[in-house]
Amino acid sequence: MQNDTNYNEGYGAENLNPVFSFALPTKIIFGSGTVRELPEALKELGIRKPLIVTDEGVAAAGILERIQRELPREIRAGVYDEVSPNPKDYQVAAVAAAYKNFGADGLVALGGGSPVDCAKAAGVLIAESGKDIRNFQGKNASTKPIPPLVTVPTTAGTGSEITFSAVITDTENRFKMTIKNAWTAAKIAVCDPDLTLSVPPAVTASTGMDALTHAIEAYTAACAEPIADAVALYAVELIYRHLPRAFADGNNVEARRGMLMGSLLAGMAFSHSDVASVHCLAEALGGMYDLPHGVCNAVMLPHVMEYNMPCCVGRYARIARAMGLTPDSGVEGAREAVRAVRQLAADVRLPVFSDFHVPEEDFRAIAEASYKNLSTPSNPRPMTTEDYLSLLRSMSKK
Ligand SMILES: [Fe+2]
Repeated sequence: MQNDTNYNEGYGAENLNPVFSFALPTKIIFGSGTVRELPEALKELGIRKPLIVTDEGVAAAGILERIQRELPREIRAGVYDEVSPNPKDYQVAAVAAAYKNFGADGLVALGGGSPVDCAKAAGVLIAESGKDIRNFQGKNASTKPIPPLVTVPTTAGTGSEITFSAVITDTENRFKMTIKNAWTAAKIAVCDPDLTLSVPPAVTASTGMDALTHAIEAYTAACAEPIADAVALYAVELIYRHLPRAFADGNNVEARRGMLMGSLLAGMAFSHSDVASVHCLAEALGGMYDLPHGVCNAVMLPHVMEYNMPCCVGRYARIARAMGLTPDSGVEGAREAVRAVRQLAADVRLPVFSDFHVPEEDFRAIAEASYKNLSTPSNPRPMTTEDYLSLLRSMSKK
């Protein structure tokens, strides 16, 4: 949907012009201790033989065992625990095969964004009787509902527990593809902040900055709409307030709650709006070098915000206010928002672009992969391959 709102109108830019629809197909159960409601959620969906999709880290932290202990005898669960960070196409195929071999009747995705995205994409293969997930990339390439899916996030970042998309690495082409479709959404998301208490500081930082990027990109995307705007601004407020506290003290339950709610709202915002060029660059880097998604976003976010500044002064000023800043003018507010994002990333010890040591001869390939990303048209300021290239060159000099 085209948005003709002028984001430079200052504080009052309201964005009430778009024609849009808003549906949230996922029931959300949120709060400390709600993991105990997982058996009830499975019963509600008629699932008796779920396949739990997770990773080794979640298993090592004892969370998988805790989930299995919650399940009553009449529910028999299978487990696939080999999902890697930046989930791969062959892992999606392996989950679909495990589902079939086990005779499962539903999916439980337990973990950060990687197991959740892998489970969603496997659900597409299962529904479509497909072999290669690459055949279903893009918007609405799959046409059938996936098997019933319950998501149980263990990190606060991707929002994948309630989003309509999965990002999977095409290992042959070293490209991160997006499968976007309302059919891929979970039926129920069980969001228990207590499960995030054991997340180490570095992962808290990178996943938290991923969530902040979702909120800021959704709020400023060319296709933004007012309901997504509302949840995005509250997400910015929560994440900006709680990320430093969750980073400093992982056992701070209040901060963990704020982060899980912030990331969930940010996920809701970008599912209905979109992400934009920060994610296009981050996914290009992740696909080529297998770098952590949240770290890539944190590195790119202030640079892309500076690039987008001419189109986003009013919106960035509102982001500054959501952060609790009190700028004297829209222009000053917009600058403060960028400064605050850069400072937050530094405060939670995230690197800068030069720390990646990306060879300059790869810049063109990164720019081309970024441009090919589905979300490039959502960037508020038009982005060509050459624009991506000059942004990468200028970043490498800072
Ligand atoms: Fe993301």
